[in-house]
Amino acid sequence: MNLKNKTIVITGATAGIGFQTALDASRAGAFVIGVGRNPERSENARQKIISQAPDAKITFLTADLASQKQIRLLAEQIKLALAERNLISLDVLVNNAGMFMDKKIFTEDGIETTFAVNHLAPFLLTHLLLPLLSQSPSARVITVSSDSHYRTSFTPEKAKNPVFFFGLIAYKVSKLSNVLFTSQFNRLHAGESVHAFAVAPGLVNTDFGMKETGRLTSMVWRSRKKSGVSPEVPAKTILFLASDPAVSTSNEVYWHLCKPKQPSRNATDPNLAKRLWLESCKLTSITQPEGE
Ligand SMILES: NC(=O)c1ccc[n+]([C@@H]2O[C@H](COP(=O)([O-])OP(=O)(O)OC[C@H]3O[C@@H](n4cnc5c(N)ncnc54)[C@H](OP(=O)(O)O)[C@@H]3O)[C@@H](O)[C@H]2O)c1
Repeated sequence: MNLKNKTIVITGATAGIGFQTALDASRAGAFVIGVGRNPERSENARQKIISQAPDAKITFLTADLASQKQIRLLAEQIKLALAERNLISLDVLVNNAGMFMDKKIFTEDGIETTFAVNHLAPFLLTHLLLPLLSQSPSARVITVSSDSHYRTSFTPEKAKNPVFFFGLIAYKVSKLSNVLFTSQFNRLHAGESVHAFAVAPGLVNTDFGMKETGRLTSMVWRSRKKSGVSPEVPAKTILFLASDPAVSTSNEVYWHLCKPKQPSRNATDPNLAKRLWLESCKLTSITQPEGE
């Protein structure tokens, strides 16, 4: 894994898979910008990383990725953080932050929160950081998806406000969107120096399902997570995709345990991917739809 002196942004770096990825990337000599939604948890994570990797080059920025305004501010802060170190490029963006909700709650932008945080935030942040990623000789956009995307179908134009809300379905839709986003990104940026991948972490022992959820979901997750692997396992795949020179020419979109995995049939549907892309442009006020 050669990450020495690479610049890497990792969202959701305060806990679980994102924290472990930030720690391992720091140990490997990367300059890491972690993103957290809470200043105190971000500072705790930064200190924990420095205590385990004393040479870490790590800084944390704060943004609630449910807010498009905060995502836009975050992108500006990332540019500044790089400029302060005389860096003009970003090598890797890891869209890892994600959540599960029991209830249909709308963000300040009027979008169902699971779809907003798990799909639209990666979509918008990637778009805003593309000028920096394009400056890298071999940039990567890695989005943490899930096998939950299998056996899922949806209407992109209705994802912002699904008629029937069920937390698991909203989550599955958001994770299918991660894979569709990744494949459409690669179609639109074919032949360029930036390449996207989606990662299937498998079941991982984190507190993921115990945050924005009620007592029953928390209880189920508490018991289920015990059979999950350590966050080190998916962190290894993420950092493999971030650093392996050979994967930059790969056409494989979905990866598990450092190997390609076949995504669902819907995840490879170019028409669905294009519709989602156009809808995402609309919902994030990106004025030049690249899906056409
Ligand atoms: N665990 C699994 O078995 C599993 C399986 C498949 C896929 N995944 C995916 O893996 C990714 C990481 O999950 P994890 O298991 O590591 O969960 P986790 O331990 O709960 O970590 C999630 C991270 O995302 C952050 N986050 C959540 N909502 C946010 C928001 N609105 N704005 C900014 N940051 C936010 C959390 O911040 P706080 O620290 O403030 O909560 C935390 O840093 C997710 O995308 C998830 O869908 C997990």
